[in-house]
Amino acid sequence: MLSGKEVAQHNGRESCWIIVHGKVYDVTEFLNDHPGGSRIILKYAGKDATQEYDPIHPPDAITSNLPPEKHLGPVQPDTVEKVEIQITDEEKERFERIERRPSLSEILNLHDFESIAKEVMPVKAWAYYSSAADDEITIRENHAAYHRIWFRPRIMRDVTNVDFSSTILGHKTSMPIYITATALGKLGHPDGELILTRAAAQHGIIQMIPTLASCSFDELVDGAQPEQVQFFQLYVNKDRAITKRIVQHAETRGIKALFITVDAPQLGRREKDMRQKFEAEDPAEVSKTGKDNVDRSQGAARAISSFIDPGLKWSDLDWFKSITKMPLILKGVQCWEDALEAYDQGLAGVVLSNHGGRQLDFARSGIEILAECVKHLKEKRGLTFPNEKFQLFVDGGVRRATDVLKAIALGASAVGIGRPFLYAYSAYGPDGVDRALQILHDEFEMNMRLLGAPTIKDVVREMVDASNLSSHVVAVPSDSLFNTNCTELKLSCLFDANIRNVDEVMQHAVLKLPLKAKI
Ligand code: FNR
Repeated sequence: MLSGKEVAQHNGRESCWIIVHGKVYDVTEFLNDHPGGSRIILKYAGKDATQEYDPIHPPDAITSNLPPEKHLGPVQPDTVEKVEIQITDEEKERFERIERRPSLSEILNLHDFESIAKEVMPVKAWAYYSSAADDEITIRENHAAYHRIWFRPRIMRDVTNVDFSSTILGHKTSMPIYITATALGKLGHPDGELILTRAAAQHGIIQMIPTLASCSFDELVDGAQPEQVQFFQLYVNKDRAITKRIVQHAETRGIKALFITVDAPQLGRREKDMRQKFEAEDPAEVSKTGKDNVDRSQGAARAISSFIDPGLKWSDLDWFKSITKMPLILKGVQCWEDALEAYDQGLAGVVLSNHGGRQLDFARSGIEILAECVKHLKEKRGLTFPNEKFQLFVDGGVRRATDVLKAIALGASAVGIGRPFLYAYSAYGPDGVDRALQILHDEFEMNMRLLGAPTIKDVVREMVDASNLSSHVVAVPSDSLFNTNCTELKLSCLFDANIRNVDEVMQHAVLKLPLKAKI
């Protein structure tokens, strides 16, 4: 067994060893390949890097990226020097902001969690969770699309008791929502996805475990209650033997459905995240070596996703059917043609999703795709929705129970929610997620009453006006080039142009008359 003293001697670029979870790894040759740059590894050269490693890597990242000869074995725990974590001024300010958080009872809706999370999360974690592709048009559209659907409530129905429980793929849920898969849960809280496992049990909803969870898969299954239903999200590995092992292990452990992510053959450009990675590199080191080894193409996300197979195709589905009996659902379907293909191939359903706006910018919102799928699948195959045999799910931008009810009215079986739960626990730990689910519960109760729907089955297509859903009125980010270059027309010019009184000025402003017209 190695001693901490021996490891400590390998503390530079020439020979770099690190300790992760009590085991020593020789990362000298890996330094320049580390997607997060070499600086962060060199900071822990010869030392225990577990604390830094844990939140941003799935548990097996180091073992699967390094060849076996670089796994140097265990270290004697009592010989390892404790790593002093230096608290920067920025961190101190962040801790102060945490102290000043509003109490949970002041949090009234899911948006509130996002505002507080932004203030109290470490910058890197915020960047990873909140980032979206390119100009972040789709992430905004995901939520904005719900604003284009309006209710047609019914009255005089007995809504003394309302019941919003439902089923997802035949499994009971207390609300028609599920916790969707989001990677790197420990960035926001040391307990990571386990918080969501426990909250799902407590509130009777279903959690989809991500392939790239910070907690190990088994930890999350072990953390569930005996009868708790869990789904699994799969990123398909280029090495199909690994994929087969993961899928069959999930099935053996009692996972009830496999959601295969199909919208990420390459990870989208999430620039907020990329900037974090770039800034993490040491400029001094870059100028010394003349090399800048940070791959800015994909930021933190790239570190954990290079194994995903861009070659995945429809004909692979037969192979999936041959290796598992779990229902198969495609996550990330974005048009009715692909939903129809999934139906024809005998799958159990599709998630209409653009990955929370993190992949192709200008991809349409899941809710808009839902409306077109329902229409075309009825025309082509006579299907009506919601449908037990082929279920449509939607995710992206869902922040209110009214959003969920709109999706249910349009034919969805249930809706996935991602970021709000991450923000809730990043800002308030497990109590935050508890509160978030309680808020949704209360919103469901009230809105079902106001909608005149005593049960989820009573939430029907006629209760929404979605006639404007497909008009793509999106919030357009301001054009700073134009704004800074354009010299605004000043009030004094208007007076120069023979305007005699304030009323005439107002007329110009209200009617936006071109100045020349007046002259
Ligand atoms: C995701 N999403 C995602 N999807 C997936 O199939 N595998 C994954 O590993 C991840 N990871 C991930 C991380 C983070 C931080 C986010 C925000 C999202 C996409 C996710 O499952 C879902 O499609 C969106 O999050 C839904 O949008 P909202 O609810 O976050 O707006």
